[in-house]
Amino acid sequence: MYTSILKSILAFAGLGATLACDDHASHAHTRRTVPVRPPTRELEWGDINFIHTTDTHGWYLGHQKSSAPEPNYSGDMGEFLSFAQRMKEKALKKDVDLLVIDSGDLHSGTGLVDGSPSNSVLGHDALQLLKRVPYDVMAIGNHELYNYSITLDMHQQFAPSLKGRFLSSNVNITVNQGGRASSVPVGSRFAKFRTRKGRRITALGVLFNFMSNDKNTTVQRPADMVKESWFLDAIKEEPDVFLLVGHMPIQAGNDWPLVFNAIRAVHPKTPIIILGGHSHIRDCNRLDGRSVSFQSGRYMETVGWLSVNLKPKCNITVGRRYLDANRATYEFHTGKSGRQLDTKEGTALTRDYEGLANKYNLGFKYGTAPRDLTLNRSPFPSNTSSPSVLGSQAVPYAISVNKTRANIPNLVIVQAGSQRYDIFAGAFTRNDELTASPFQNAFMYIQDVRLGDAKRVLSLLNGGSLSGVPNTTGSVRRALGRGEERQKAIEEMVHGGPEYNHWVQAMSRASDEEEMERRVAGGLTPGYVTQDSCPGIGDDTPHVPIGPFFHVPTYVSSNPPSGTDDTRIDLVFVDFIQEDVIEGLNAIQSERVFVLGDVRGYTTVLLRDVWGVYAGFAWV
Ligand SMILES: *[C@@H]1O[C@H](CO)[C@@H](O)[C@H](O)[C@H]1NC(C)=O
Ligand SMILES: *[C@@H]1O[C@H](CO)[C@@H](O)[C@H](O)[C@H]1NC(C)=O
Ligand SMILES: *[C@@H]1O[C@H](CO)[C@@H](O)[C@H](O)[C@H]1NC(C)=O
Ligand SMILES: *[C@@H]1O[C@H](CO)[C@@H](O)[C@H](O)[C@H]1NC(C)=O
Ligand SMILES: *[C@@H]1O[C@H](CO)[C@@H](O)[C@H](O)[C@H]1NC(C)=O
Ligand SMILES: *[C@@H]1O[C@H](CO)[C@@H](O)[C@H](O)[C@H]1NC(C)=O
Ligand SMILES: *[C@@H]1O[C@H](CO)[C@@H](O)[C@H](O)[C@H]1NC(C)=O
Ligand SMILES: *[C@@H]1O[C@H](CO)[C@@H](O)[C@H](O)[C@H]1NC(C)=O
Ligand SMILES: [Zn+2]
Ligand SMILES: [Zn+2]
Repeated sequence: MYTSILKSILAFAGLGATLACDDHASHAHTRRTVPVRPPTRELEWGDINFIHTTDTHGWYLGHQKSSAPEPNYSGDMGEFLSFAQRMKEKALKKDVDLLVIDSGDLHSGTGLVDGSPSNSVLGHDALQLLKRVPYDVMAIGNHELYNYSITLDMHQQFAPSLKGRFLSSNVNITVNQGGRASSVPVGSRFAKFRTRKGRRITALGVLFNFMSNDKNTTVQRPADMVKESWFLDAIKEEPDVFLLVGHMPIQAGNDWPLVFNAIRAVHPKTPIIILGGHSHIRDCNRLDGRSVSFQSGRYMETVGWLSVNLKPKCNITVGRRYLDANRATYEFHTGKSGRQLDTKEGTALTRDYEGLANKYNLGFKYGTAPRDLTLNRSPFPSNTSSPSVLGSQAVPYAISVNKTRANIPNLVIVQAGSQRYDIFAGAFTRNDELTASPFQNAFMYIQDVRLGDAKRVLSLLNGGSLSGVPNTTGSVRRALGRGEERQKAIEEMVHGGPEYNHWVQAMSRASDEEEMERRVAGGLTPGYVTQDSCPGIGDDTPHVPIGPFFHVPTYVSSNPPSGTDDTRIDLVFVDFIQEDVIEGLNAIQSERVFVLGDVRGYTTVLLRDVWGVYAGFAWV
């Protein structure tokens, strides 16, 4: 039922996916079959207002594909800069405050930040351009901490441009100062400043308790941070507003209440605004009547709007809106149509990001993808599921390019979680490759493994049934345990944890058929349908849910070669899981003891290169 409805949505949405840049006042007179739908509701403004981005992950040229829902997020960073400037002009006219805030994770996501030449720091060039966006406060994310050279770049080359408002309250870097190693905050621990209207702000930038950070970077647990004397000193003086920006989800179970309570213990009534991030979803809730917590999605899909009215000694009143990041949105809310939206600075930023993409050769085309391949919006296995096509077709082809062992049958195992983003019908470029599959893991193999054992290792890794396993205690549990931990770390790295998938799943489950059909009949296109804990409707543009959502196993494999259980094959896998594979093999058979020395390199093709190699063959 759902699938058939979705099909009609997709067919409908496909009719006119081009983006309108013209005057939306003249929409009624255009000949477009499916007019681009601008939002219809004006934003609420308060005494103090916020434009919020988080988890932008290098999506600075916008979403460029024509498959749904991508056109809805086609606004680029130059257009966002124009939008921010125009909204600041509007705020000036209304004589209210407007702050532009980002909650971290600037790195990892697209070719602009993952495709830097090997002699430069990943993301450096893209972030030098990002400095032009008039952010008032920014906070550090976990993706700024996986590689010391990136953290150092943030500390030396990026943070200074924020003039004390790049915040890293609980994150330090160890640097060489006068021949001595010393640990210092990456940016600033806190900032106190006045808004244009003279409101006193005390801002903090808190990262969740992140543990996979690189050596010579330090993340202090928020629980310990709130006991620090610098923290207690910083919050002692009462501002008009505490602004807690940080890379930490606002959903229950995270550490915001620790920071909130520490402030409430001193200031029971001062307004506290929390702008969170990391879990990649749209969300809003309130810890008490004088505070609000807000989070604005991911990947420059969502631009958050939060308006707050302050009345001394009273609860604050709050309005929030999740804007789809595209020109129609920006034009509607600025009241500037067509080219009037663009500022000189905005246009220059778009041009310079395009220049950077050219410099990195991100437009290089490997082939033309025949259809959309999605991570979770297609059944598994199927030829529209990217993990499925990865395991059954792309990897087997890409590793067969090395002729050395090409005529020895093999089974290859890859983590589905290594894939970061959907692949869309149309040109498949270097940027798409880096976006979809960023990891530079090598393919390794063990020769002369029994086919039956190879298959059982796969089901063991996937936590499947262990029938026929001689002894599943001890090492196997350890292998699984380690695998699970690693899986969690991968999930955190790739998607900011499991919340995003849960969110998308819940929105397709929650919508009843009638409501769906009404929305489809009303011409709504696929997108996020947010249900948060703040009153009223949060989404600026109504949509039908992008679901359905399909589960994919943790590990995917090639189709097993023919043969009996005793047929000897090459068991091929990514280096990342070699210890788990060895422990698994030793747990399910006793004929031979496998050791790391049995593992050899299979090919020079890396996991990250697979789609490009495959596209050059299958999608030409
Ligand atoms: C949103 O995306 C749909 C395709 O899913 C497209 O038809 C529509 O025009 C887009 N809207 C905007 C404002 O870009
Ligand atoms: C960190 O980045 C540098 C420069 O891009 C690279 O040479 C190095 O291998 C990376 N280190 C790790 C641990 O990934
Ligand atoms: C950390 O940085 C200091 C100072 O640059 C250096 O001496 C030390 O070797 C580094 N530690 C590690 C574990 O890399
Ligand atoms: C962070 O740096 C400050 C300033 O050097 C230092 O006092 C503090 O102990 C460091 N904190 C951590 C958790 O390393
Ligand atoms: C303030 O907000 C709290 C929490 O939502 C509520 O319990 C309380 O009644 C509100 N007070 C007033 C005066 O509205
Ligand atoms: C994809 O799978 C569907 C359903 O199994 C099938 O009808 C279709 O022919 C397949 N397409 C290709 C190109 O393999
Ligand atoms: C299974 O392994 C456990 C722990 O390693 C050991 O105590 C037990 O004797 C083994 N059982 C068999 C049947 O080998
Ligand atoms: C091919 O595979 C062998 C291992 O069998 C490896 O030593 C060699 O480097 C590979 N060659 C290429 C071009 O990947
Ligand atoms: Zn993120
Ligand atoms: Zn994150």
